Amino acid sequence: MAGTTLKIDISGRGGSYEIAIANGSISRVGSWAKQHSGKVARKIIVVSNTTVFPIYGGFVAEQLRSAGFEVGTWQLKDGEVHKNWRNVEKALNAFAAFDLSRTDAVVALGGGVVGDLAGFAASIYLRGVPFLQIPTTLLSMIDSSVGGKTGVNSSAGKNRVGSFYQPSGVLIDTGLLKTLPPREITAGLCEAVKQGVLSGRELFKTTSDFLSRYPVAEMSKNFGEREFGNAIDSLVAAQVGFKASIVRGDERESTGRADARSRKILNFGHTLAHALEKVTSYKHFKHGEAVGYGILYAAELSKMLALTDDKVVNLLYDVVHRTGRLPSLSGIDPEEVVEAFRFDKKQVAGSLQMILIKGIGKPAIVNGDGIPRSTHIRALKHLFKKHQS
Ligand code: NAD
Ligand code: GLY
Repeated sequence: MAGTTLKIDISGRGGSYEIAIANGSISRVGSWAKQHSGKVARKIIVVSNTTVFPIYGGFVAEQLRSAGFEVGTWQLKDGEVHKNWRNVEKALNAFAAFDLSRTDAVVALGGGVVGDLAGFAASIYLRGVPFLQIPTTLLSMIDSSVGGKTGVNSSAGKNRVGSFYQPSGVLIDTGLLKTLPPREITAGLCEAVKQGVLSGRELFKTTSDFLSRYPVAEMSKNFGEREFGNAIDSLVAAQVGFKASIVRGDERESTGRADARSRKILNFGHTLAHALEKVTSYKHFKHGEAVGYGILYAAELSKMLALTDDKVVNLLYDVVHRTGRLPSLSGIDPEEVVEAFRFDKKQVAGSLQMILIKGIGKPAIVNGDGIPRSTHIRALKHLFKKHQS
């Protein structure tokens, strides 16, 4: 397949799979699925949602049929609230009603919500069936479809239930982004900035240059232009390459690691992001937008702790602001936000692990419990003052 193909090897587990990135590659979905679903797969069930399926589902199902599969479909209602247990059970029932066997396959066609839920259901149905991903949002292309984290939200919290379950293949067609709403593009670009900051000067520059060349407000006009198609393919490939490099080295996010290549670093920006999402009942921010603020907060805090300087903080403000307009922070109480940090504490031995930054490509995992509450509040107030309207 033309474009870029990256391979992920999960050491010690004998697993490896390919991530194929090419504008227009959805037209070859049939042969791609044949190649990656295992030699004897006869049936394939497409899991999607009520927004994405009407746009791309018919075409994908038809191509899979033409490639010789018996095709089933199951759709989730659109939205994060539907990434729940009840829908896992419904998906499993749909797999069973379709008589999906252990040698057949599940394919997720959608953003991170569809991918996380479908992957989780595939990981527990008959103790695991082949799983393919076709991510359709920028966030899911560069982040959630890479690395094998699957799961759903429960009354205990977001992503509290899940599994590590690597897909058999990932097909990324950046052309599918032409129908993605602008706020979702911004959300994906914030995650791209996050990975750029973590990775180092090269990916940071690639991301920052992309944002300079293609201002977000006018990005939708560029779809269909060959030059833009190449630029977005290169950006996505570089981003996926970085995420794959971290996953290869620490597939299961080892709790004992605190080095700069630990998978934990991917949580950069997420302490504040999760708190902002929680205090606004998951209604005000797209996850990636909240990560945008999380990056800036981590930068402010890093400066207060003398880990970094104004130059880095200003650089991050500049690049995050170029991802698009983030929702206002007015009306959000910093005290309530700091209180919500404790929900992130449950992850590792009751301590708050924060990813801070010494410079571009220099993350630092810091015990947040050692940071005085007054410092958190001061950093938040700095951030809030700049984003009240
Ligand atoms: P999403 O799946 O909710 O998709 C965002 C919106 O875009 C939805 O309304 C969706 O219907 C719509 N959409 C998707 N593709 C489209 C297209 N091509 N055209 C038009 N509309 C389209 O959100 P997301 O940002 O993709 O994913 C967020 C989820 O991913 C969260 O649940 C988060 O927890 C999870 N996540 C998982 C990982 C992981 O490693 N597994 C990493 C990051 C985030
Ligand atoms: N998005 C964080 C991770 O995949 O580890």
